[in-house]
Amino acid sequence: MEYEICLEPSGTCFKANESQNIVEAAKTHNVAIKHGCASGSCGDCKGTILSGESEQGPFMPLLLLPTERAAGMAILCKLYPRSNMRLQAEVISRNIWKAEIVGLSKLAWNVLELRLRPEKSYPYRTGQYARMAVPGYEDQWRSYSMATPPQDQGELVFHVRELPGGLFSRWLFYQAQCGDSITLGPAQGDFALHHDHHRPMLCIAAGTGLAPVEAIIQESIDLEQTRPIHLFYGAKKQRDFYHLEMLQQWAQQHTHLTVTPTISDAEEANWSGARRLLPTVAANGHWQDHEVYLCGGPGMIEAAIDLLLSHGVSHNHIHFDAFAPNG
Ligand SMILES: Cc1cc2nc3c(=O)[nH]c(=O)nc-3n(C[C@H](O)[C@H](O)[C@H](O)COP(=O)(O)OP(=O)(O)OC[C@H]3O[C@@H](n4cnc5c(N)ncnc54)[C@H](O)[C@@H]3O)c2cc1C
Ligand code: FES
Repeated sequence: MEYEICLEPSGTCFKANESQNIVEAAKTHNVAIKHGCASGSCGDCKGTILSGESEQGPFMPLLLLPTERAAGMAILCKLYPRSNMRLQAEVISRNIWKAEIVGLSKLAWNVLELRLRPEKSYPYRTGQYARMAVPGYEDQWRSYSMATPPQDQGELVFHVRELPGGLFSRWLFYQAQCGDSITLGPAQGDFALHHDHHRPMLCIAAGTGLAPVEAIIQESIDLEQTRPIHLFYGAKKQRDFYHLEMLQQWAQQHTHLTVTPTISDAEEANWSGARRLLPTVAANGHWQDHEVYLCGGPGMIEAAIDLLLSHGVSHNHIHFDAFAPNG
């Protein structure tokens, strides 16, 4: 069964069938609704149902608060129409940036630092991410977080993990060279340092989830904030860590910063540090009065949210960016 979906305020309409989510259906009609993961993990496709019937599929807890649901808000990449609908949804600008690769260097065996120089100014806020077209597959886009606050010289820095069979990451690891060009969409996302109060910060990063967390910590240091920051940084094995020495140097220079690395592989006998990310967080403090920043895979984020809520942290003080596979 096909339905007509109309978007406000753009006035754009398109057809969608019952098995297509709204973001996907829009895409097949060349309408780009703002989205990130397309898998219910990031919240960038939030919209509001103005009229019509639909079925909301599952999504990451806390993406929609009960008050937002009551106001008709929905996660559009998991929303399936059951009648004609009117929705309020952000249609993204067709702005694109060409950017030249100006640096490619290994941070760990499976992580590359990618440096890009966009042809024109690329505005973003610390903690946001860029969508990049996979070279040779211009309809395939991948999301990567900027790993530093905006830089004077305008370069963009990313930490990219190689994935088995990864279309973009394997191109970057094995084919890309300095001088190659990458197409970027506009910066997206709400993950950002919250300046409105001076609560201590609890940061939890797993793998390349360190990228936006490191940028947020750097911004806090640049702003000369001295509120306590505790970073828990998780990896599977010791060889997976990157920037650990740099973070430990930051902690020596800025005594309000504490860094606790953890590994999860029980077989690494020569590791004397902490083991298992979330149990280490749970055992190391009372976090109710903290502002929390979480970044890593969706499984870790869901488990961390459960843990923090059970420890009395209010949902208003939990900010997260889930590095979901790009749908
Ligand atoms: C908002 C946002 C920001 C992100 N920022 C970063 C970042 O800064 N650095 C970074 O390394 N990644 C980041 N990611 C994750 C990255 O965009 C995805 O992992 C992406 O799919 C990788 O593209 P690829 O072409 O290499 O692999 P794909 O071709 O997309 O996938 C290859 C295979 O790996 C699986 N897969 C993909 N991603 C994951 C994952 N995260 N965990 C487990 N399996 C996976 C796929 O299902 C598929 O089987 C971010 C994701 C989001 C949503
Ligand atoms: S795009 Fe819908 S939740 Fe990420």
